[in-house]
Amino acid sequence: MSDTQLFKVTIDNITVEVPAGTSILEAARKIGGDVAPPAMCFYSKLKGSGGKCRTCLVEVSKGSEKDPRPMPKLVASCRTTVMDGMEVKNITSPKVVDARAGVVEFLLLNHPLDCPICDQAGECHLQDLSYEHGKEGTRYEFQRRTFKKHDLGPYIQLHMTRCIMCFRCVYTADQLTSKREHGVLDRGDHAEIATFIEKSLDNDFIGNVIDVCPVGALTDKTFRFKNRVWFLKPLNAHRDCPKCSGKVTLWNRGDEVYRVTARKDEWGEVEEWICNECRFEKKQTSDWIIEGPREISRHSVISQGHYAGKIGTTLPTETFEAVNDGRQPHLLMDIHDVSKVNIPDVHLSAINGPSHSNNFKD
Ligand code: SF4
Ligand code: FES
Repeated sequence: MSDTQLFKVTIDNITVEVPAGTSILEAARKIGGDVAPPAMCFYSKLKGSGGKCRTCLVEVSKGSEKDPRPMPKLVASCRTTVMDGMEVKNITSPKVVDARAGVVEFLLLNHPLDCPICDQAGECHLQDLSYEHGKEGTRYEFQRRTFKKHDLGPYIQLHMTRCIMCFRCVYTADQLTSKREHGVLDRGDHAEIATFIEKSLDNDFIGNVIDVCPVGALTDKTFRFKNRVWFLKPLNAHRDCPKCSGKVTLWNRGDEVYRVTARKDEWGEVEEWICNECRFEKKQTSDWIIEGPREISRHSVISQGHYAGKIGTTLPTETFEAVNDGRQPHLLMDIHDVSKVNIPDVHLSAINGPSHSNNFKD
């Protein structure tokens, strides 16, 4: 059987042709949209990832053309390769929908519901997963796990209580850096991500563990508690970096760079790894060549922050009368006269670009 042989696989009634050896998950991503199962541990750029979280479970209702028997149990789509003539059900299977709700409940057993203070809120895959596939309540009545605090160096914060043991950060450290200083210690309920003898993770590329972490277990210390991601404007930018491609996403408010991350695709995966210097040390707009607004294609609250061609860059065409059923307003106030926040001689509408904190009284 040659590597280039194409297999036909039908997922949620949509047929696609993929090379032999492709996983069901990757075949489903080729179709896109809701047909692609959610993935909390699989990461196409990390060898060996997948098979840990079970969020990608699907039903194989027909094994293949040669052996059409269905698979007896739901299978992890990230770890099951397609067969020619295979038929798979994802969102069209009530069994899958039910099992996924169970997996979400399971992942949330020990996860603290601290989204209001978690830096990952708004771009957390577990948060999105719970909204889309979870149930309202939990049946768990026991105390949640707690851990001893670990110091992961000057740039990275570990909140072990939020970790869902997806192993992505371990693979990232293993495959991207020359030495791995952290891993999973202990087993079962006691399993935890830890650095051996509390060593700092000081490798040039270790910051990428923040981007691969699907939850808020690994966050950027230079950004912690500074802003909510949905208030920030993502911009594509690059610089001439000797260590990495220098292609990043800047998260700005006005001209202030709050955070630098790698660019992520529609599945939330990093497109190109970036170095620590770009991520943590280049926080001036002047450090970067701005390419333009970044569209966040993931279905999440942060994609609400799109501003390319929208409010803020385009003047509305409607007049008061048009939006007010033909009536004129009784009272019109000038924000400069009444606001205690604005500086009266700074006209926000006349600023070339978005306003930032310097344009307001403190
Ligand atoms: S810290 Fe994050 S990336 Fe690492 S195993 Fe836990 S959830 Fe996964
Ligand atoms: S994404 Fe398949 S098991 Fe986690």
